[in-house]
Parts: sequence; C-alpha cells; structure tokens
Amino acid sequence: MYNDNPTIPVKEIDESKQGEVLMMETKGSKPKSFYIESYGCQMNFSDSEIVASILSEEGYGPTRNMEESDLILINTCSIREKAEETVRRRLKIFNKVKAKRPETLIGVLGCMAERLKSKFLEEEQLVDMVVGPDAYRDIPNLIASADDGNRSINVLLSREETYADIAPLRLQSNGVSAFISIMRGCDNMCSFCVVPFTRGRERSRDPFTIVSEATDLFDKGFREVTLLGQNVDSYKWENPETKELVNFAQLLEMVALVNPLLRVRFSTSHPKDITDDVLFMIRDYKNICKYIHLPVQSGNSRILDLMNRTYSREWYKSKIDRIYEIVPDCAISSDIITGFCTETEDEHKDTLSIINYSKYSMSYMFFYSERPGTLAARKYEDDIPLEVKKRRLQEVVDLQMDLAHEHNKKDIGKTYEVLIEGDSKKSDQHFKGRNSQNKMVIFPKHKGLGPGDYVQVKVDEVTRATLLGKMIS
Ligand code: SAH
Ligand code: SF4
Ligand code: F3S
Repeated sequence: MYNDNPTIPVKEIDESKQGEVLMMETKGSKPKSFYIESYGCQMNFSDSEIVASILSEEGYGPTRNMEESDLILINTCSIREKAEETVRRRLKIFNKVKAKRPETLIGVLGCMAERLKSKFLEEEQLVDMVVGPDAYRDIPNLIASADDGNRSINVLLSREETYADIAPLRLQSNGVSAFISIMRGCDNMCSFCVVPFTRGRERSRDPFTIVSEATDLFDKGFREVTLLGQNVDSYKWENPETKELVNFAQLLEMVALVNPLLRVRFSTSHPKDITDDVLFMIRDYKNICKYIHLPVQSGNSRILDLMNRTYSREWYKSKIDRIYEIVPDCAISSDIITGFCTETEDEHKDTLSIINYSKYSMSYMFFYSERPGTLAARKYEDDIPLEVKKRRLQEVVDLQMDLAHEHNKKDIGKTYEVLIEGDSKKSDQHFKGRNSQNKMVIFPKHKGLGPGDYVQVKVDEVTRATLLGKMIS
C-alpha cells in the first residue's frame, strides 16, 4: 500500500489493487483495448468504472497488460504531495511502453488532471490526453483528436454532471460489494483540502437512478452497496416536477428498501451535517450498517477553526455521544491530520485525547501536506517541521492501533452476522467477510457456502485488524 508511512492504513491508494483493475474478459474480438490504473479515494475507483463503461461503448475492451493496450489511462489523486509523486513515477513507466509502441495513447484522468490542466501537456513526459473528473463523456472525442496527432484536453467542471445514466462497468469486483456514487464535488472549504478545486461544486444524483442501480446490482448477486460522496449527509435532490426534496436519510431508506438482504454502507460523513434522522435510519433498518466514518481531522478547537471545519472539539464530542446514544453498537472511524499550520504540542495532545474519547474502531492518519492554491497554503505558514509532523503522526498511529485492539477485544464471545466476500488472503481454507461494523472477520469454510452468503460467526480471537471466529449454525 502507498502511504506517507507504510504502517498506516490508507484508503486512497492500494497498490495491491493496481493493474488488477481489469478483471473482466473482453468478449469477442474487440479491436482495441485499454488499461487503467486508479489512485485516490473510492470516488476515483468508482469513476474509473464510469470511464470503462464509456470506453466499452466505443469498442474498447479492458486489458491487464499495459504493453499490449492501445490506451493507457491513469486516474489520479492530488490530496497529498506523495499521491502526485506516485502518479509521476507511473507516467515514466507508461512512457517507456509508449517508446516501444508509439501508437499507444496515454491519458491522465481525475484530480491531478484537473489541478494541473495544460501543465501536463507542457511537461517533457508524453501525455496525449488530460481529462478532468466532469469531462469523461468527452473521452471518445478526445481519443479521436489524439489519434490524429493532437494532444487533447478537457478539464471543464460542471454544475450538473452526475453520470446518472451511465451503468458503471464493474472492474475489480468481488461480485458481492459495489460502490454507487450519489453525489459529486464538495461545497465545503476545509482550508487544507484540494478537493473543492479538483472536483468542483457539490451536486446530488437523481435518487431513482441510485435505487435502480442498487436493484440491478442486487439482481446480479451483489449483497452490499456503499453510497459514495465527499459529504454524503448533505445529499439533497429536488424533484424537478413536484419540487419535493429528498435528503440523505430518505435516500438511505429508499436504498435499504431495495431488499433486506442488500447491505447499505455510506462514506464520508461530515460531522456538521450528519443528522439524527440518519442515525434513526441506521438504528431502524437492520441492513443499514452500523458504521460511520466521521473524520475529526484535529481534536483542538483553534486548529479546527483554522481548518475551517465549522465545528469545535466540544461539538464533535457531543456528536459522538449522540451516535453511541442512538446506535450503541455503532463503530465509528476517523481521518486525522497531524502537524497542521501552527499546531502546538498541547493542541496535538487534544487530538490524542479526542481519539481516546471517540473510541474509533480505526482511523486513516496523515501528516499535513500543503496543497497549492488551498486556503491554508495562501493564508498560513506550513511551519511545523517534517520530523515533528511525523513524530506526532506516529503517536496518533500508536494510540489508534492500541484502541483498535481494545475495540476488537470487546468483540470476543459475541456473534455477528457476516457477509462472505471470498477466501481469506492467507488461507483458502478460510472465508473472509465483514460484520455490520465493517470489521473483517475470518473463519473456517463450510461446504455449500460462498461469497454473497450471510452467516453467523462467533468471535473467539482478535488481532488489531481482524476478528477470528467460527460459524455457528
Ligand atoms: N470528504 C472527506 C475527506 C476527503 S479527503 C471528508 O471531509 O472527510 C480524505 C482525507 O485526506 C481527509 O479527511 C483528510 O484527513 C486528508 N487530507 C486532505 N487534505 C490533506 C492534506 N492537505 N494533507 C494531509 N491530509 C489531507
Ligand atoms: Fe475536502 Fe472538507 Fe470537502 Fe472533505 S469536506 S472533501 S476534507 S473540503
Ligand atoms: Fe484524491 Fe480527488 Fe479523491 S484528490 S482523495 S482522488 S477526490
């Protein structure tokens, strides 16, 4: 896995998945093929499935072998400097392939394409196409133009585009869990964050297309959907005819009603927007998972204010209290940034103490990386030395690891419903699956069962990352 620190779990980039993006066999003898690598958040992986769908309409079939592909695409992330460095390294490798096979086109998609725009075409590396996150429908035209020897670019952001009518081509699928993008963009202006610049304004997708995508997935055998957005709790859709509004709690219910056997997850929740109504839905529907990703970023009110998160330490703590009050067995996870501009040692300690208070089951942890053009880059000095940022990060990681272990230990003796996802990584004699709280559960296989089945598993052992148990009848 890529990360600033290899011991930290990171959601943005999972190198073990790279190149595996293309699990689907090309049917018939398609004349052209594409190879795609995806980096960044789940939204980016979900977007790659939209791109794959658009390309398949054009007669391009997926391949896992970049050497033989006609089109090499990289869906990029700009969230931290390291993420962009990884992309540049990969582009160098693609360029070697192109040197041997000059007719191959190389395209940069996603957030880094949007951030750097035509700068990509000016660099010495060979890039034929630059396509921003709202311009994927234009890819066929951009390919045609690049085929004619022009370097092509479309980085226009849109206020409407949600790709609602495009059925994603499920790449990398285990056939059990799938992502559904419910909105795009972000209207928050967290001062550290590049996403509002790379993804544009927030817009929500027609809920009926979301329900029909979920229904279709269920009919195909999928048993879990994750509703994706940078800030799902601010989902809001107005019916153009009746003017009725659908909010996120209502959308959750609509998707939960598709089938009681379809698990519903969602990510990410902004603490300022998650409502009691959402918590009541989680409490009332068994198939809405009892798991909330509620990034705190910092535990100190002054830093939260500089970050423009619009909540204070006390306010966040009361949100945590409310979640555990309404859904006592809910698991909560977080994102944390250490060493933000001007953060003192005491303010860092506030972050450690809020992690303790919140009892996160896990967290994604990062040290601050200044991003050009953001509010923080313009207004504040990135004044915490790298060693200090890293040391604080290590303290956060150590604490979170211990907490995760404690959290898991409390599960010993409990029985959970687990949705089987496939074979455990370490042994083909064991299944892996998740419980409602999003914890990975490993248990010995039983005949007649397989991915997509629900089973009851009693936990008898735990590690920091996993629950181990046995099926009960
Ligand atoms: N929309 C989500 C987060 C998207 S980015 C939310 O609001 O929670 C995922 C995480 O990356 C963020 O939660 C934050 O912890 C981290 N991140 C974003 N910008 C960063 C930066 N400049 N430096 C370090 N970490 C950053
Ligand atoms: Fe970035 Fe904040 Fe939007 Fe999340 S809510 S994507 S951290 S600006
Ligand atoms: Fe990265 Fe863009 Fe997602 S910057 S985290 S890929 S929205």
